[in-house]
Amino acid sequence: MKLIFLGAPGAGKGTQAEVVCKELNIPAISTGNILREALKSGTEMGLKAKTYMEAGKLVPDDVVIGIIKDRLAEDDCKNGFVLDGFPRTIPQAEALDASGIVIDRVIDIEVPDEKIVARMSGRRVCEQCGASYHMLYKHPKVEGVCDSCGGTLVQRKDDHPDTVLDRLRVYHEQTEPLKAYYEKQGKLKIVEGQEEIADTTALTLKAVAE
Ligand code: AP5
Repeated sequence: MKLIFLGAPGAGKGTQAEVVCKELNIPAISTGNILREALKSGTEMGLKAKTYMEAGKLVPDDVVIGIIKDRLAEDDCKNGFVLDGFPRTIPQAEALDASGIVIDRVIDIEVPDEKIVARMSGRRVCEQCGASYHMLYKHPKVEGVCDSCGGTLVQRKDDHPDTVLDRLRVYHEQTEPLKAYYEKQGKLKIVEGQEEIADTTALTLKAVAE
């Protein structure tokens, strides 16, 4: 199964991608995580992406299209994958179509902007492995410590309220038009994000199986 998870920043794409990928035994591919990893290791790509990411802007299309083409050519993608955070613009979607990869379904997770701003302030991520937690909805076992690797939990620079508003603006301008793009292809399924993560997961798994 080849899936795309669409949605505003903080709608829960990453959280749901993780669960669905475990269930289907396919990799979750997050352009955000790949870029943050590059930034941490100080590669040329990471340095190029840094200013865009910290300001809540999109990294140029050519950079992310290159990342995705390389990643999808790897062996573990042969039986399917979930794309989390790609495509984010019409040119990125067109590049994916032009590469000959046929996407089965596009799941759009919808959450109102007001809820997203509140939700993002509670997110904490592991600075070592990138695992994501929430101060209200997804607690680590020990406060401030990652369950998986013992790393320290921190707030992402782009999760500060002002930057979240910029990311939402960019989402509405550049990413939301993808809903019409995939609707036209007959691939779009809408999932209403719920208050509890498990409730969203139930709806997401249903949308994937339909
Ligand atoms: P990226 O990492 O993709 O960030 P994003 O899309 O802004 O998405 P998030 O990870 O913030 O949100 P999410 O929907 O995955 O939410 P999550 O599940 O974590 O991109 C970062 C940056 O990289 C971009 O701004 C851009 O600069 C660059 N970039 C990446 N891809 C790009 C591309 N293709 N083109 C150009 N630039 C690109 O959930 C959020 C929080 O809420 C968590 O704490 C979670 O625990 C909690 N939560 C989740 N679901 C629920 C629920 N149902 N109820 C309560 N809490 C919940």
